[in-house]
Amino acid sequence: MPTMAVIGAQWGDEGKGKIVDFLAAEADVVVRFQGGNNAGHSVKVGEELYKMHHLPSGIIRAGKLAVIGNGVVIDPGVLLDEINNLTRRGKSVKNLRISERAHVIMPYHRLLDGAEERLRKSARVGTTGRGIGPAYSDKVSRLGIRMGDLADESALKERLELLIPIKNKMLRAFGTKEVVDAKTATAELIEQGRLLKPYITDTGAILDTALSKDKKILFEGAQGTMLDIDHGTYPFVTSSTTTSGNVASGSGIRPTALGEVFGVTKAYTTRVGAGPFPSEIHDELHDRIVEMGNEYGTTTGRSRRCGWLDLVALRYANSLNDFSSLAMTKIDVLGGLDEVKVCTHYRLDGKKLTRIPSDLKAMERCRPAYESFEGWDELGPARLKSVLCGGFTRLPKSLREYVRFIERESGVPVSLLGLGRRRRELLDLRRKRW
Ligand code: GDP
Ligand code: IMO
Ligand code: MG
Repeated sequence: MPTMAVIGAQWGDEGKGKIVDFLAAEADVVVRFQGGNNAGHSVKVGEELYKMHHLPSGIIRAGKLAVIGNGVVIDPGVLLDEINNLTRRGKSVKNLRISERAHVIMPYHRLLDGAEERLRKSARVGTTGRGIGPAYSDKVSRLGIRMGDLADESALKERLELLIPIKNKMLRAFGTKEVVDAKTATAELIEQGRLLKPYITDTGAILDTALSKDKKILFEGAQGTMLDIDHGTYPFVTSSTTTSGNVASGSGIRPTALGEVFGVTKAYTTRVGAGPFPSEIHDELHDRIVEMGNEYGTTTGRSRRCGWLDLVALRYANSLNDFSSLAMTKIDVLGGLDEVKVCTHYRLDGKKLTRIPSDLKAMERCRPAYESFEGWDELGPARLKSVLCGGFTRLPKSLREYVRFIERESGVPVSLLGLGRRRRELLDLRRKRW
């Protein structure tokens, strides 16, 4: 099957952008199917750094069709800024297609996101503040506005006349000082709809045609399995289905059309925002990993919480996504440590636990059990070059043992190894190209 999905196997920020950028070289179409501009996917090409929030990372490569599918929620102002930014940097967006069924993140959604967080008090999720939860809530409540409506001035005005007063009442009830000025917001949204109209279309039909012509379609997941609304560490999750099961409904292809699934995991674990994280590191090594790994959120700039690789989470992610192979990123960041640990299972009330519990209180009480590995040296430029030319056997022995252990324990082969931030700093162990 000529389709492939790239899915975060952890709590997001695994390096999906970099992996998508790499695989996109072989693809015809790249598709986002869920999430919104809570996503921040960085791609470093030479010295150029691209940070994608709404646009599929594959858009950086010339000639690829870039699709924002129906399952995505879109902030039109942010999307237009992103389009303008890329255009200024000499990248073409003429191949962009946006689903008319995708829902719009409205100005009141952003305000409601902040208001709801304040109301949660100490149980704050630590959202990105981009209005994601409220936009998905409105979609499910059938109070949403879709991109097709945005491009239709009279339909938009009609919806806004109904919705803005309701949302302003909610905002006031939530104790928010700022509400939405109907006149300004309407004028702004009409203008955004006018500017985006050329890209808005029936993307499901486009993908259907692409499939019938055997085109290679790459699906770019956002967030990660452990942030999935159903299977993640609820309520400390995002508001969409982040797992491979959503590729079909979030893009409009038939479920049986999905071929391979690439799971992306860091060689360790990070998490932004609140919520349980059993393998989190609490000593000085934490700050070292933050600095070495530049672990600051691509979207919000927040410092990411860091911990050891969690095999309980990785096996769980595999059971939910059915990974064909894994991409392990940021291996270089652990270079130079004497010891590297992996969480093999949890312990709860004296018992061994090998699956993520659904009960949040239980998850919070889980204690990690570790296996220790000898660390590996930093790969200097000469060694890196030798590895990229000579392959896996040129890697330090302790690192090879680490990778083989993860493969055995997860049951999934590791076929891409991230050894640095740049596009070319990736070791490709795939037996065949796509
Ligand atoms: P995403 O949300 O999954 O696309 O990941 P982000 O882009 O938010 O965060 C991953 C960060 O790690 C970005 O700054 C990437 O440039 C960087 N990165 C990705 N792979 C590697 C790698 O193998 N080594 C290093 N050092 N950095 C990497
Ligand atoms: P990418 O695609 C990491 C986290 C937020 C918060 C929770 C809910 O770059 O991997 P939301 O704004 O979605 O309602 O926030 O989810 N979160 C992410 N963490 N990477 C992301 O995306 C994330 N998108 C949301 O920090 O804990
Ligand atoms: Mg990110």
